[in-house]
Amino acid sequence: MYNAFFGFTESPFNLSPDPAFFYRSEQHEEALANLVYGVQARKGFIVLSGEVGTGKTTLLECLRDYLESQYIEFAFIFNSRINGEQFFEMIAYDLNLPCERMRKTDVLFALNQLLVEQAQDGRTVVLIVDEAHNLEWEVLEEIRLLGNLENRSGKLLQIILAGQPELDRKLDAPNLRQLKQRVVLRCHLEPFTLRDATEYINTRLERAGMPNQTVFSEELIAEIHLRAQGTPRLINAMCDNLLLSAFAGEQRTCTTEMLDEICTDMRLEWPGSRRFRAARQSSDESFERAQF
Ligand SMILES: Nc1ncnc2c1ncn2[C@@H]1O[C@H](COP(=O)(O)OP(=O)(O)O)[C@@H](O)[C@H]1O
Ligand SMILES: [Mg+2]
Repeated sequence: MYNAFFGFTESPFNLSPDPAFFYRSEQHEEALANLVYGVQARKGFIVLSGEVGTGKTTLLECLRDYLESQYIEFAFIFNSRINGEQFFEMIAYDLNLPCERMRKTDVLFALNQLLVEQAQDGRTVVLIVDEAHNLEWEVLEEIRLLGNLENRSGKLLQIILAGQPELDRKLDAPNLRQLKQRVVLRCHLEPFTLRDATEYINTRLERAGMPNQTVFSEELIAEIHLRAQGTPRLINAMCDNLLLSAFAGEQRTCTTEMLDEICTDMRLEWPGSRRFRAARQSSDESFERAQF
């Protein structure tokens, strides 16, 4: 809506996990390198955890691009609220297995054949499960069993489980101990530091066609970082709304007042938000008193 006004070629703060807008913070870069390494080295199980909106799905999309560029076969399960039957059906569909998709034994047979064939060619196959904290025990058990398939040079299927921190707690359950012990690599995404958030915002604006932006001041970015508590998804939502407010008011820069209004609309709370407001109010009052 505001793209023409600011001269953007694309919306800079889209909420989709688009690798074209991937910002390589140190931790995102490291996590992606770990995922790639885990696949290449046939490590078997890899867990990627992080709070909502920290960039897990975006990272998996980058991994998908990598796998496609290397012609590595993979199945990507993004809907984890499924039962065992649906799980095998989805694997068969994604890997284009030549079998009766509704029958687990058929799928397992075809999958095994694909894994062995690929291994003979010195290649591997990857299973990615996003939102893995939602997986049913039954499906987790099937995944554990798939992780057992191996030959002498390593695991035949590389399994990446991505999810919220509950996933780690789930894997702590006694019945999943065996799976947990097989997790060889773990990556965790933390919210952005202020430095990352600043570079993140600037990078997204640059990709959208605005290098050296002057729309968000340093102070405003610090305020956005604080209120979003470093979470990329919230940063995007705030920046998008800020640009919209500026466009509506035909202004070239965004302000803290606009951010206040947006946070009220979003019903956002952040550590110290009430105290912050109360403190500011009393300091405003003492400022007014001092003036008279
Ligand atoms: N490193 C990053 N580079 C670019 N965009 C990111 C990054 N991390 C998160 N985002 C953005 O933040 C939002 C939430 O990311 P997402 O991957 O959906 O988080 P999660 O899957 O952890 O909930 C998306 O709009 C995504 O584009
Ligand atoms: Mg996600």
